[in-house]
Amino acid sequence: MTDATEHSEPWGSDVQGMMLANEANWDARTPVHLASRFYGLDASPDPARWFAPFEWEDLGDLAGQDVLHLQCHLGTETLAFARRGARATGLDLSGASVAAATGIAERDGADISYVRANVYDAVEALDGRRFDIVYTGKGALCYLPDLDRWAHTIARLLRPGGRLYLVEFHPLLNALGPKPGDGEGPELLLRHDYLGGRGALRKASSSTYTDGPAVEGATESFEWAHGLDEVVTAVVGAGLRVERLRECDELPWPRWPGMTPTPSGWWRLPETAPRIPHLYALLASR
Ligand SMILES: C[S@@+](CC[C@H](N)C(=O)[O-])C[C@H]1O[C@@H](n2cnc3c(N)ncnc32)[C@H](O)[C@@H]1O
Repeated sequence: MTDATEHSEPWGSDVQGMMLANEANWDARTPVHLASRFYGLDASPDPARWFAPFEWEDLGDLAGQDVLHLQCHLGTETLAFARRGARATGLDLSGASVAAATGIAERDGADISYVRANVYDAVEALDGRRFDIVYTGKGALCYLPDLDRWAHTIARLLRPGGRLYLVEFHPLLNALGPKPGDGEGPELLLRHDYLGGRGALRKASSSTYTDGPAVEGATESFEWAHGLDEVVTAVVGAGLRVERLRECDELPWPRWPGMTPTPSGWWRLPETAPRIPHLYALLASR
């Protein structure tokens, strides 16, 4: 299949149809991700490697806390919360992801409940349960067309005093060109929108971000760019108080050749490169 990325909306403004396409696409990606070295779930998974030390600092002691992980995919981060003593719940749109995450937790002996639902239906899908912490990110927000609705949903999922922790790829990272090997060199070149507002970005590709074979079947997906202003405004507009916003120059994997390992086991650009954010972390309370 030819890879295509374009700002065209064959579904018009049918965001429901686009999210259904995403569901099918994530179902199709799941077996590839499950078998990949990127996630490394064949042996004993080490879910802590998806977290930077500052995340644990921001999250604090999780023992006995009700933690909801939205858009949990294979449940790698959800498992890390359970290992730290949280009563962890994961929610994802993809039935294949939820089934895979359930199997991984069972093999690990972790007591995690997983729910298949769209984020926007989370309050009903979780029967009105409230949580101490709602965590999400690392490739999640780009699949959501409406951040105001997302933030209001999270406010309803939190107990008074509860906290949202969003750790997401920085819009600047998303605006940079393809990975080297996809037709470009190691230069940092702006190729995509940083700001949202131009509607859905349609992607048609049988490749995914992990190693492994081609994705078979549903290869069409839709993404929405969200600048930092949109994220912060949505969170504040839902009545949450922003406690902290970090921008971080590290990534959990080496996206560019020449990235150097950090003391935390993550990766950053060499000293000679401009210092730019790859990730941001927003902590907000209800
Ligand atoms: C890149 S994963 C992010 C999870 C995790 N950080 C990881 O890297 O494994 C994105 C997940 O978002 C889920 N997703 C996409 N749109 C969703 C929606 N509207 N509601 C719930 N989950 C959604 C997908 O099914 C997928 O499992």
